[in-house]
Amino acid sequence: MNATIKLENVNHFPVLLNEVISIISPLYGGTFIDCTFGQGGYSQKILENKNNSIFAIDRDQNSVNTVNQFKIKYKKRFNFKNIKFSEITNIQSNLINLKGIIFDLGYSTTQVKDLKKGLSFNSKGRLNMKIGLNNFSAHEVIHKLDQKEISKILKIFGEEKKSNIISKKIVSIRKNKNIQTEDLVSIINSVKKNKYSKTHNATKVFQALRIFVNNEISELIYGLINGFKILPVGGVIAIVTFHSLEDKIVKFFLKNYSEIKNESRYLPSKNKKKILFNLINKKPIVPTEKEIKLNPSSRSAKLRYGIKVNNSSDFSDLISKFKYLIDIEDLAKKL
Ligand SMILES: C[S@@+](CC[C@H](N)C(=O)[O-])C[C@H]1O[C@@H](n2cnc3c(N)ncnc32)[C@H](O)[C@@H]1O
Repeated sequence: MNATIKLENVNHFPVLLNEVISIISPLYGGTFIDCTFGQGGYSQKILENKNNSIFAIDRDQNSVNTVNQFKIKYKKRFNFKNIKFSEITNIQSNLINLKGIIFDLGYSTTQVKDLKKGLSFNSKGRLNMKIGLNNFSAHEVIHKLDQKEISKILKIFGEEKKSNIISKKIVSIRKNKNIQTEDLVSIINSVKKNKYSKTHNATKVFQALRIFVNNEISELIYGLINGFKILPVGGVIAIVTFHSLEDKIVKFFLKNYSEIKNESRYLPSKNKKKILFNLINKKPIVPTEKEIKLNPSSRSAKLRYGIKVNNSSDFSDLISKFKYLIDIEDLAKKL
């Protein structure tokens, strides 16, 4: 199957498209929530079956052109809301026969190519990194947080080994200069000096700032919890991740609530952990060599999914496990 979707002359490759579709195909004939509409690659494929409807979400207002094309083509079978997926419960009243919820995390090639968003190292001018519906930009992070706080963001969200030196340099330079995107890239290059690395010197710092500016950790945790709340038993939740922090959270969410480890049979039944998911695949599904060749940026993608088997509102384990990450995002309260 040809996975290329041509919209507005952009060759777009929805990652792991066949795999996502094969997970939800046994459930055909219902409503699916596409939490990360983007250019509608997944939505389009799901809507090819006339018995399916889509409720799509995207935080980026620029999705609007594609959304309008979809509304014309699919009419009542397609709905869209420009919200963050952590707010998924806001759409509850419009959903009939909900069968599945899909997340394809991160950002699209179109968003990287949009230099005003500042996600690319080739961007110039004010540091931005806002994907949509944000409260602050990377510029405020770099200019307002203290050195230790910046270092923590770079180290934990970007796994940047030189976080301390880079953040010290940022804080020293910002005393006399308004740091723009190209200045940040030069600061990182001056510290890392690694001309021969396959990845750009600034990759990790940019990833860290993007996660922080877009609240990606809390978005994912509360997107999963709230998505679970509105999904009926028997429905599927499928998530494609692109970096290790995201995958850690998704893996814990699905595994922790799908297996019972060393639980005493003498515990009163109300204290026993509930199984919330049936996991068909314990290991993540990854792209084939062929897909990676066609679309190299799919190489780090991992798809995990679970079938909901029980209701629950207790996700305290998930929140406490990742509290150290949520606490870093809470530094935003200072901005
Ligand atoms: C990798 S793209 C999705 C591509 C899509 N599956 C397709 O085939 O076109 C990720 C999309 O998710 C959106 N997004 C990221 N985080 C979000 C959030 N917290 N809430 C809503 N949308 C989000 C981004 O704006 C982007 O359009």
